[in-house]
Order: sequence, then C-alpha cells, then structure tokens
Amino acid sequence: NEGALWGARFASGPSPELAALSRSTHFDWALALYDIAGSHAHAKALSAAGYLTADEERAMHAGLDALARAIVDGTLVASDADEDVHGALEQALIAEVGAELGGKLRAGRSRNDQIATLVRMYLLDHSRTIAREILRVIDALVAQAEAHADAIMPGRTHLQHAQPVLLAHHLQAHAWPLVRDLERLRDWSARAVVSPYGGGALAGSTLGLDPQLVATELGLDRPAENSIDGTAARDVVAEFAFVTAMIGIDLSRLAEEIILWNTREFGFVTLDDGFSTGSSIMPQKKNPDIAELARGKAGRLIGNLSGLLATLKGLPLAYNRDLQEDKEPVFDSVATLEVVLPAFAGMVATMRFDAERMRSLAPEGFSLATDVAEWLVKRGVPFRDAHEISGALVRACEMRGIGLEDAPDELLAEVSPLLTPEVREVLSVDGSVASRTGVGGTAPVRVTEQRAHLVARAQAV
Ligand code: ARG
Repeated sequence: NEGALWGARFASGPSPELAALSRSTHFDWALALYDIAGSHAHAKALSAAGYLTADEERAMHAGLDALARAIVDGTLVASDADEDVHGALEQALIAEVGAELGGKLRAGRSRNDQIATLVRMYLLDHSRTIAREILRVIDALVAQAEAHADAIMPGRTHLQHAQPVLLAHHLQAHAWPLVRDLERLRDWSARAVVSPYGGGALAGSTLGLDPQLVATELGLDRPAENSIDGTAARDVVAEFAFVTAMIGIDLSRLAEEIILWNTREFGFVTLDDGFSTGSSIMPQKKNPDIAELARGKAGRLIGNLSGLLATLKGLPLAYNRDLQEDKEPVFDSVATLEVVLPAFAGMVATMRFDAERMRSLAPEGFSLATDVAEWLVKRGVPFRDAHEISGALVRACEMRGIGLEDAPDELLAEVSPLLTPEVREVLSVDGSVASRTGVGGTAPVRVTEQRAHLVARAQAV
C-alpha cells in the first residue's frame, strides 16, 4: 500500500472495490486548505514541544506553503490512489520536503481529530458568507417596506382575508425569522469554535503538545475538553444543518407567497425580468423560478439534516467511519444557500408591488368585522355580544351582496340599535390599520418603530 497512511500490518493492499468505496477526496478536497492550516499549527506545536528543530519547522512551513499555492492554482490534486485529503497531502508534503521531515508531521495527531477540527473551520467560514447573504435579503425586505410605508394589503389567516395590514408589516414579518437565523448562526458559532485537534484517534496524546496553541492558530477558541467527544461528536455539524434547513424554510415561506402574489389572480407583484424566467413553448410566460427553486431547495436542506441525523443515531463512541458521511450533506447545504440567497435577495429587491390593487382588495371578505366588534367593546358592549352583533351584520351584508362600509343606517339599526352611524369611523382600511397601535401591531407608527428595532437587531449580529 505504497504511499498510504497505513499498510505495514497488512499483507496486501486494499482491493480496488474497497478503495472505490473508501475514497473521499472528491468531496473532502474542499478541506485541503484547512488541512494545510492545521498542519502549520501542528508543526508549531511539535516544534514548541521539541520534536522539530527550528530549521525543520521552517522547512515544514515552507513546504506547506508550497502545497497551499499548488492547491490554489490547481496543480496539486488528489490521485486515485489517495484515500482522503489527509493522505494525499501527506504524500504531497513528502514529495516536497522529503520523507524524513515529511514523515514527522503526523506525530500526535490522527485523521480523526483533524477531520473533526477541519469541518468546524469550514462551516465557520461559510457561516459568515451565509450570514452576509441573509443580511442582503433582510436589507431588501426592509428597503421594500420603507418604499411602501403606507401600502395596505389584505392580511390573511388560513389564506382567507382576515384583517387589513400594512405591506411593510407583512414584509417585516418575513424579515424577523431571518434575523433570528442570523442569531442562530452566531449562537451556533459559540459551540463550533472548539478545537478537537490534539485529541488523537480518541484518547489524547502522550507527546505534550499544546492544544491551545493549535486552537489559537486556527482561529478557534479553545481545545475540546474530552478527546472522545472531540473526535466522535457531530452535534455541531447537525446543528449547522438544522440552521441551514431553517433558513431554507424561512425563505420558502416567503417564496410561496411571492409565487401566489405573482399570479394573475392575486396580481400583487411583478418580478423583474432579470429575476424571472421564460417558457420554451409558451412565448408569453414569465415564471417565478427563483422563488420556486428556493421552495424546492428547502426540501433538499431538510433532507441533508435528516440524513445526517440518521447517520448519527446509534453510533457508538468514539470515531466510526460512518462519520465520513457528515460532510457531503453540509457541503451541499452550504453550496445550496450560497446560490439561493443572492438570487433571492435580487428578486426581493427588484419586485414591483401593485399597491393600489392590494389596497382595493384589503376590505374584501368583511375584513373589518373585528373593527366593528372592537368599536362596540369601546362603547361598553361585552366582546361576546359585540362578536355576535358584528357577525350578524356580516351575514346581513352578505345576503345583500354589499360590503360592511355600504350598509345603510336602517340596516345597521335593524341588526342592532347599538350600531349607530358612527361605526363608519372604523369602516375604512386606513382607520383600521391606524388604530392597531398595540405593541407589535400594524399601525404605521408601530411598524416604523419596529423596523428600526429589526435593523438594529440584524446589525448587532
Ligand atoms: N475521511 C475520514 C472522515 O471524513 C477521516 C479519516 C478517518 N478515517 C479513519 N479510518 N479513521 O471522517
């Protein structure tokens, strides 16, 4: 087994079938530069503990730098003989600095503690890219909210007209979960910044290497407290997969609404040409593919999470090769969000709302009936009775085929003597919206205030 990380105790090399199954370089090469960073840090620890002379350490760093350059410019790639990124890079290092020095680097570390550390570094880096892109979607929502500060739309429950709300309130309702996703990534990172490096295969090292030095070099906070936990746990990876799935779901809920709003029947938004697609047969078509892909890819993100959880369930401690299956799902989740988020932000930023149409539909479906009931409550009527009276008015209007605001005085009086003509004060969508001044309500003053809090929370992450 020439050039492999193991072999002496084997009479033969691996069968081609095993090699084909075992090989992971087609995906773990994404960790190559992190592996090099780990090796730089490990060389320092070896040197500090007296296992490398100053000259050897210098030669080691120079050799690793050469490898890093070759990785970046694509001249160093894994070969079919390499089992994984760690083995491939050891081979390359030996080719660069010789077997004597190259063979020293592996002391006191195992692929098990390496991989557990590298995946954290990879996820931490990409979590910052993802957070930046989420912020762009939030910014786009906030900009649309600002640009339509007094647009009124039909607010819905059960997808039925419920009560009129500000479009800005609704858009901000989609921004809040994304702000919490940013906070989830931040909270997750507090657990991710732990370094398993130095834990060895599972039991720790005899060599007296300084794991804090390695952690600090790698931009991590501190070494893992338990070498078994450090090498075998993947809850931090699963938690990352959850947060990315949640981001996908939060985008998907907005995507679904955009798809509806963009239908002829709703007619609430028009998507920009640069952010919609055509049909190969129907010349007139303009489709909301970004929203549909975001909705579809949420399923994929959920699948990545559930697949990973299934892999972890029932795994005994410590390292098992099953753990190699942690990477492709989260690499895919990262790649997915890194293409979905920029397109989504662009789509949201460039959508054009038909504010007039939304406003004209806002009073439909007797959406001001709650306002009538609350108007009665303010006049001392118990809500139970107020609800009945308002409900009876809805029925009377429905039978006549008119809206609440069109009910003549006689009809009001017929439904209840408590329904004096003054009730019309609340029978306008503007009045209704403006009166919902309670905390978190849809009144313009509250929504503007809320937007400032939203922006502050997003910027604090
Ligand atoms: N490639 C493995 C992984 O991704 C790390 C190597 C550990 N392999 C081993 N046989 N102990 O988890």
